[in-house]
Amino acid sequence: MKQDMNLAKKINDLKSEHRAVILAHNYQRPEVQDIADFCGDSLELSVKAKESPAEEIVFCGVHFMAETAALLSPEKTVLLPDENAGCPMADMAHVDDLAHVRNERPEAIVVCYVNSSAAVKAHSDVCCTSANAVSIVSRIPPDKPILFVPDQNLGRYVERMTGRKLDLWPGYCSVHTLFEPEHIQQARAAHPEAAVIVHPECREVLIDLADEALSTGGMCRFAAQTDKKTVIVGTETGLLHRLRKENPEKQFIPLSEQAVCPNMKLTTLERVEHALSAQQTHIRVGSDIAEPARRAIAQMLDDGPIVRNEDYRG
Ligand code: 13P
Ligand code: SF4
Repeated sequence: MKQDMNLAKKINDLKSEHRAVILAHNYQRPEVQDIADFCGDSLELSVKAKESPAEEIVFCGVHFMAETAALLSPEKTVLLPDENAGCPMADMAHVDDLAHVRNERPEAIVVCYVNSSAAVKAHSDVCCTSANAVSIVSRIPPDKPILFVPDQNLGRYVERMTGRKLDLWPGYCSVHTLFEPEHIQQARAAHPEAAVIVHPECREVLIDLADEALSTGGMCRFAAQTDKKTVIVGTETGLLHRLRKENPEKQFIPLSEQAVCPNMKLTTLERVEHALSAQQTHIRVGSDIAEPARRAIAQMLDDGPIVRNEDYRG
């Protein structure tokens, strides 16, 4: 504990020296969330990264999130405290495979979940997060076929919410697909009064049994607003820290204690301190893909109708 306080003080000093802001995803370790300037879901963190006046961003999350921040803020230094913090689902969509499918389906609009590499974003028309996927797909003209990359479960959720048929890439999150219907049945039997919320990366059968499917930011808002005193939370267990801190009068129970994303847990206070003192690992995006990838993210953040990514060069 004392060691954490010393590290937190060092981090604070380094942060001022480098005019840095620390952004943390909601799945980060409790002590990392506690020293962050802002915690949020993927969409909230992208917006913060873009709007922050800081010169440097320490991104406590996984690689694709830091890459998105680097795309949105090319003038800022973006540091990822552990360069091995990847997202296995993002790795399920390889740019060569997407380029091949895209050449075969030139008429399709490619909607790409932000959990993807910058190269895959550069071969897409528009990005989405779990918080805005339904509204992004709703903005695409109804006559356009849609390819949804890489999360098949989020894609299926979007299909049912929009009534649109999507071509689904076969990717998935191994943390969210470990939830089983029995987890919800057992939780409901033990806590009949509780609300059950799950992330849309869960399989359809889980979403059917839950009360709500929400992004992690959506779960935070739900927790603050619900009258329920107990909430069963079907996502990575890191979110529980924030839910409990912000709602001390309510009880939050993980749907499964096993739902831990090892990549999200690679970031420790020591790694954050090292990132700031050694200025590592600096995330950069190659200029050939940065422009088209930025266009796909910009279309997500704008309100207008979704058009082809003219910058895409396949
Ligand atoms: P959120 O955008 O809902 O925080 O989800 C990110 C993620 O990686 C879920 O596994
Ligand atoms: Fe990727 Fe799943 Fe970890 Fe989210 S929880 S970062 S989707 S592996």
